[in-house]
Amino acid sequence: MKYRMLGKTGLKVSVVGIGTWQFGGEWGRTYEQHEVDAILDRGKELGINLIDTAECYGDHLSESLIGESIQSSRQDWIVATKFGHHFHSNFDRTDVFDPKGVVKQLEQSLRALKTDYIDLYQFHSGPDSSFDQDELWDTLNKQVEAGKIRHLGISIGSNENIHQTSQSTKLHSEAIQVVYNRLDRKPELEVFPSCIEQNIGVLARVPLASGLLSGKYKPGAKFASNDVRSRRDAAQLDQMMMEVEVIGREEVPAGTDMAAWALAWCLKHPAVTSVIPGCKDPAQVEANAAAVELVEAGHPQEA
Ligand SMILES: NC(=O)c1ccc[n+]([C@@H]2O[C@H](COP(=O)([O-])OP(=O)(O)OC[C@H]3O[C@@H](n4cnc5c(N)ncnc54)[C@H](OP(=O)(O)O)[C@@H]3O)[C@@H](O)[C@H]2O)c1
Repeated sequence: MKYRMLGKTGLKVSVVGIGTWQFGGEWGRTYEQHEVDAILDRGKELGINLIDTAECYGDHLSESLIGESIQSSRQDWIVATKFGHHFHSNFDRTDVFDPKGVVKQLEQSLRALKTDYIDLYQFHSGPDSSFDQDELWDTLNKQVEAGKIRHLGISIGSNENIHQTSQSTKLHSEAIQVVYNRLDRKPELEVFPSCIEQNIGVLARVPLASGLLSGKYKPGAKFASNDVRSRRDAAQLDQMMMEVEVIGREEVPAGTDMAAWALAWCLKHPAVTSVIPGCKDPAQVEANAAAVELVEAGHPQEA
């Protein structure tokens, strides 16, 4: 594994982390505890120390599965979770960004994760109207002082949200999470330069373009009706799959696993600290961790 410093946090994170939205059930299957254990255990063996989860991947369900799995090795992990929603059922959630509601969610996340601190607590892709509340950030910073949160972060909803990104330092927020992958390079324009200028860490989410950049889906592919990807516009997905075919032919060296290549591609950008691909099983964890073999030395955040 390779490691980088997450901005000014002092956290040394693995360049490949594990995204865990899939544990909440919206990707078409539910997870047993032993399956989550196998994924995280394999990650740990490979040197992965970064887990990204959220309050609304199931009703604190993903957090609960993770908490159970890592309770005896909590100190070995950097756990990033989020706040801002109440999950009702798959694809049905309501916003909760009022300070009192957020403190309640924090307590629920701590309980689910079976821990007394969260390493990175991220504003979960809310609108600017929810973001622009001094009282919310004051409340969050008090939770940092109380030791329940080690660092604050912002997971921006639109990957061009320069408003929220540019406020980071002022709000004592130290990391940005953003969609970034070979098919979607918008953060390079404004968000990444702002992160570099402020020296804040970047977690690249959806780095495989929801699995498409593995190259295993061909135009016309259909997703099961309970898989979140079936909710996307089919024509747009087809277009993306066609682009992936061209990228596979023209950019991915022969004999190289495309998923690993796609992750290493994200990690080349000087602003990007880590990628957090969602992993369905230990084999995907292994394939994704292998991306480090394609990552060259000399990145400015190298630890
Ligand atoms: N607003 C937010 O803050 C927000 C939003 C979205 C995501 N996130 C975070 O970002 C994480 C990653 O995003 P994501 O899961 O949506 O998308 P992703 O990482 O681009 O794609 C994940 C999917 O790709 C497939 N895959 C993974 N590794 C593979 C491999 N080595 N070879 C082939 N296929 C592979 C798996 O699906 P199949 O095998 O079924 O194809 C997996 O579920 C999430 O888990 C979550 O933690 C945050």
